[in-house]
Amino acid sequence: MHQDLKAFYQTLVEEKVFDSAPEDTVSRLAVLFPQEVCFSTSFSMEDQVITDLLKNSDVKIFTLDTGRLFEETYNTWTLTNSKYQRSIKAYYPDQNELEPFVQERGPDSFYTSVENRKQCCHIRKVQPLKRALQGNKVWITGLRAEHSPDRENLLQLEWDESNQIIKYHPLLYWTTEDVKNYIRKHDIPYNILHDKGFLSIGCAPCTRAIQPGEDFRAGRWWWEDANKKECGLHVHK
Ligand code: ADX
Ligand code: SF4
Repeated sequence: MHQDLKAFYQTLVEEKVFDSAPEDTVSRLAVLFPQEVCFSTSFSMEDQVITDLLKNSDVKIFTLDTGRLFEETYNTWTLTNSKYQRSIKAYYPDQNELEPFVQERGPDSFYTSVENRKQCCHIRKVQPLKRALQGNKVWITGLRAEHSPDRENLLQLEWDESNQIIKYHPLLYWTTEDVKNYIRKHDIPYNILHDKGFLSIGCAPCTRAIQPGEDFRAGRWWWEDANKKECGLHVHK
């Protein structure tokens, strides 16, 4: 079944079957692709909403533990485990890639060149992501249009050519206020860095708080040009 996943994806789009509420769409996807739907969480506020939306589904949840996350992010992970009693699978970098990289270039080489930064993201995030996506047909993410101009043009259900997988972004059109309201209303644990000026949260050495009026992702890799600031997890064409 679904041997040509890309063609099947086109049919789904044409039939507009996924223009419904996120919970309904997730249920449909789970029926269409049993045990082949996964969700990646970074424990961001949007990801916490999605974890809540998935509470009655058997969608697999995973996280990419880069080894450089904030303590507050690990705390959020622990609280999430307690609240939802879900097994969140963690994927780690390949030691055979990471050890020589750190030995040759030092622990914080990402500050010294874009090449080093991209290599670090590749080893700590992109390669583990590839492993996490293996055996899945649908990948759910917390991407939102408000995050960046690149993300504004995304489709809610998109075909990811580089990973050969269907991607679904249930909160694509939610505003930051929508997300915060949902978290308050449902008493969902969230990363307390969001209360300290952090909007978009990644690895600790590569994320800072932002000032009012700054772009959503201004605190990510802030020392680099704005147009280079993607880590390779999400390749937008
Ligand atoms: S990134 O491309 O800059 O790193 P961002 O932090 O905006 O991504 O998060 C967007 C989505 O990517 C999240 O909602 C989540 O689905 C996924 N994601 C990002 N970082 C991770 C991570 N460490 N583990 C799992 N998923 C992640
Ligand atoms: Fe490395 Fe920074 Fe990328 Fe994390 S965000 S993987 S620490 S370069």
